[in-house]
Amino acid sequence: MPFYDPAKIEVLIDAPSLAARISALGAQITADYGPGTELVLVGVLKGSYVFLADLARAIDLPVEIDFLGLSSYGSSQETSGVVQMTQDLTRPVKGKHVLVVEDIVDTGLTMQYLLQNLMTRLPASVKVCTLLHKPARSRVAVPMDYVGFEIEDRFVIGYGLDYADKLRNLPFIGAAVNDEPPFPA
Ligand code: IMP
Ligand code: MG
Repeated sequence: MPFYDPAKIEVLIDAPSLAARISALGAQITADYGPGTELVLVGVLKGSYVFLADLARAIDLPVEIDFLGLSSYGSSQETSGVVQMTQDLTRPVKGKHVLVVEDIVDTGLTMQYLLQNLMTRLPASVKVCTLLHKPARSRVAVPMDYVGFEIEDRFVIGYGLDYADKLRNLPFIGAAVNDEPPFPA
């Protein structure tokens, strides 16, 4: 038996589909920036850590990796819209090409806050790559240059995404059967 109950968690995007899409995203990013362009991949903690690890290896360019932490108060499934930086980048991005790597853009409020914050640091460019997007819940328009998958309005877990800080290590994107969390952990 795995650590979770497979009868209660439904697979929405399996591991081979994730791998194939991330390989395509990496190729597109490589082609768009062009040979030799140096990139800073900025991962948003914690949710992006799995995606960033795979995406970085699918990009055939010299990259630096940095992370920042953002959190919004609210219930475990819904943002309050009040975003707080819990951890900053370790190095300046002035004059650098920044690619923000995010697990999911839901209402867009987190990404809007992040982009406004990053622009004050005068990077050469900023683009956004998100693994998932829930268009049904969008509250603010944010530029998304690269989107892995558009998904329906369900609370998803796995491949970095959590429910109450758990289930990040599921190797696929899943959801609770009948959308009835709490998930069995
Ligand atoms: P937004 O500010 O509403 O776009 O929310 C973005 C953040 O909320 C993401 O970075 C996730 O951390 C979290 N989030 C939104 N939807 C989900 C979900 O379905 N599963 C897990 N986390 C989610
Ligand atoms: Mg997140």
